[in-house]
Amino acid sequence: MNPKKKLHDWYLTHKRDLPFRKKKQAYPIWISEVMLQQTRVNAMLPLYESFIKRFPNPESLAHAEEEEVLANWKGLGYYSRARNIRKAAILLVQNYNGAFPKDLNLILKLPGIGNYTARAILSIAYDLPFAVLDGNVKRVLSRYYGYTNNILGAKADTDLQKIADEFLNEDHPGDHNQAVMELGATICLPESPKCLLCPLSEFCFARIHQKTSEIPLRVKDKKQIILKGEIFVLYYKNSILLLREPKMRFLKGMFHLPYGFIGEIPEETYEPSQIFLSIKDSNPSKNLTPIGEFKHTITHHKMGFSVYSYVLESREWVEVLAKKFGVETKWVSLSDLDTEFPSSLASKVKKILLYLES
Ligand code: ADE
Ligand code: SF4
Repeated sequence: MNPKKKLHDWYLTHKRDLPFRKKKQAYPIWISEVMLQQTRVNAMLPLYESFIKRFPNPESLAHAEEEEVLANWKGLGYYSRARNIRKAAILLVQNYNGAFPKDLNLILKLPGIGNYTARAILSIAYDLPFAVLDGNVKRVLSRYYGYTNNILGAKADTDLQKIADEFLNEDHPGDHNQAVMELGATICLPESPKCLLCPLSEFCFARIHQKTSEIPLRVKDKKQIILKGEIFVLYYKNSILLLREPKMRFLKGMFHLPYGFIGEIPEETYEPSQIFLSIKDSNPSKNLTPIGEFKHTITHHKMGFSVYSYVLESREWVEVLAKKFGVETKWVSLSDLDTEFPSSLASKVKKILLYLES
């Protein structure tokens, strides 16, 4: 029998009975797939059930306060995922009547939805021919096809996506994707895969050549991390706001301009702080004016910053926020900016400000 068909048959008899598999509905599939990116199935199930009960559709999520969504995300961590889910739900309701567009590029525009999630939704909910790539899929495919290069290398994702596209069972894209992931989660385990029980064993490169402990090859080199950030220049009279925050990934213990990373971040430690988000979302600063952009590198992090400025009518609002989040403030003149905030970030912002003045 053809391996794709064999895998599909295996899936139909061995698949776990999971609540989000009951119906082909994009919304619960989306939520479950996002949760599964950070937790194993067994750990996420109770949280999934309670989340779906409270937010059964995009409308309920779109109309909920962010705080309540975060409260219902408790235990999963990585709260920007929950924030993005709510933002995406709002866009779905506004632009698409609460349904997902059946178009990869449109779905990819939604906040927090990357290649994996978009492809999972389109294939599992709509049976559209998109192959997914996650850790389990990479392991199964690299072993089966004998992909012996480093799967953490720069080219690996492109190579493996091609392999995944080729392996996709176009008659059953949703089942197929889930079958490969399920195989990785239950049979093709990282250590001691259960090849004797595997529907792909007949033609599997790694099994045939006894290389299951060598494939996939994982060599960690410091991967470049790409970050997109925003940095704010808030003036009151002639002074500029600096913050000193208790918990920071960068610039620890230093007074700095309010900044945060936006969009897709690689892990929790890059999450924007509460005070940054509050400044960004609060009323007086709704009209933060974009004044420039620059690039910045810290070790293996490549950052692109957009700079925004805003003139405050009172300092009260910021001081109240700072107190609430346990953040210290300092107001400094433009000429002192780079001595008070001794980072080349400050010099880059100053350059933009001086250029604007000239
Ligand atoms: N891992 C993440 N999503 C999955 C799914 N839909 N089926 C099996 N394993 C998964
Ligand atoms: Fe994985 Fe073994 Fe199946 Fe190959 S035969 S895919 S190594 S479980």
